[in-house]
Amino acid sequence: MEIMAYNPPRFSEERLAQVRKIVGQFPEGRQKSALIRVLHMAQEDFGGHLTAEVMDYVADLLAISPIEVYEVATFYTMFNLKPVGKYMLEVCHTGPCMLRGADKTIAYLQQKLGIKVNETTEDGFFTLKSAECLGACGYAPMMQCGEHYYENLTEEKIDALVDAWQKQPVPPKAWEKID
Ligand code: FES
Repeated sequence: MEIMAYNPPRFSEERLAQVRKIVGQFPEGRQKSALIRVLHMAQEDFGGHLTAEVMDYVADLLAISPIEVYEVATFYTMFNLKPVGKYMLEVCHTGPCMLRGADKTIAYLQQKLGIKVNETTEDGFFTLKSAECLGACGYAPMMQCGEHYYENLTEEKIDALVDAWQKQPVPPKAWEKID
């Protein structure tokens, strides 16, 4: 039996420099304030989701207890605790979007992608989620994918977006790089 090498999650030097820069923006002893930004980085660098091992690493980096990281990572829906597709489509299903047909948008995406909400396509391209208000109520129905919003959705727009993503499998960045 082949024994696999164990590679614990570790940020690159470049990323560590970014983490230090962010932590340095807060007063001494308040490094926990950097937690959400560092979790975004970890999610982007370690495969799009946060394992217990990754969360423990972040706790270690910020010198806080693992439970403080778990509390935050499990509270916010923007953090994934299990693998997701390259493109995570989050369709707003709060009141104003529902009034403008969000339920039809979700149904259309389910049918087009062949998955239900909270599922991922077999090819690993798409995960479909529904989300609470994303703050673009005036452009309903809408969805978020990575750092981009797609608004006033119609079946035609969804077709064009999904087709384009399928042809160009570069995941959108969920985290904006820091200089
Ligand atoms: S209700 Fe959908 S963005 Fe606000």
